[in-house]
Amino acid sequence: MTDRPVLARLAGERTDYLAGSLPDDAPADPLALLDIWLAEAFAHRQEHGDLPEPSAVVLSTLAIEPDGTPQPRSRTVLLKAHDADGFVVFTNLDSDKGREVAATPRAALLLPWYPLQRQVRVEGTVQQVSAAESDAYWVQRPRGSQLGAWASHQSRSITSREALEAQYAEVEQRFVGAAVPRPSFWGGLRVRPQSLEFWQGRPHRFHDRILYTARADGTWERHRLQP
Ligand SMILES: Cc1cc2nc3c(=O)[nH]c(=O)nc-3n(C[C@H](O)[C@H](O)[C@H](O)COP(=O)(O)O)c2cc1C
Repeated sequence: MTDRPVLARLAGERTDYLAGSLPDDAPADPLALLDIWLAEAFAHRQEHGDLPEPSAVVLSTLAIEPDGTPQPRSRTVLLKAHDADGFVVFTNLDSDKGREVAATPRAALLLPWYPLQRQVRVEGTVQQVSAAESDAYWVQRPRGSQLGAWASHQSRSITSREALEAQYAEVEQRFVGAAVPRPSFWGGLRVRPQSLEFWQGRPHRFHDRILYTARADGTWERHRLQP
């Protein structure tokens, strides 16, 4: 253990969670509560600076290995919109994650807001957003990011950084003096939530958890879960 001092310390790491609570009469609409928590996460960043990416979410998808074994995979992406229809992120649709949701249109999202001692978990089904919606976001992206999307076969291997830079330079040349169109392989994925769980850390690991599950009529059932 002595040559791994950080690992040796982990078992003794202990922070009591005192930052907030979730009342039994939490909002009936989880998306309204999410709006409040997102706004508080951005306000926290503004005031304290210790929550650098309030809209970063961990997206988990299910890969099916060639022998049929299901393998969950997680990665961070940025949440770009959320409304009654779901949560939208943008990516290369031909990436591993894009292919995984095309084959198994299910995903989980985790929004970790550690400085606020909060997390939100979302589970649901996945659909590609419309071309018009992807276009509307594409035109807001900086030109460099647009070129980068063309230049990267996301999730595929490449021999070197130099080869990657050469792909970027080639794309830069191709679109010189012109607007960069959205590639057909780049767009949005919408996770339509079937459940959302709000977690607020409380003292003595006796945390608050409120789970919302979607009813067929579009309203939400609300349960408190034991910590
Ligand atoms: C803070 C942060 C934000 C990211 N945002 C995105 C994003 O919005 N879209 C995206 O495709 N990848 C994003 N990435 C990169 C992904 O985590 C991942 O490396 C990439 O999408 C390839 O994933 P895949 O091979 O599983 O498809 C982000 C990574 C980090 C750390």
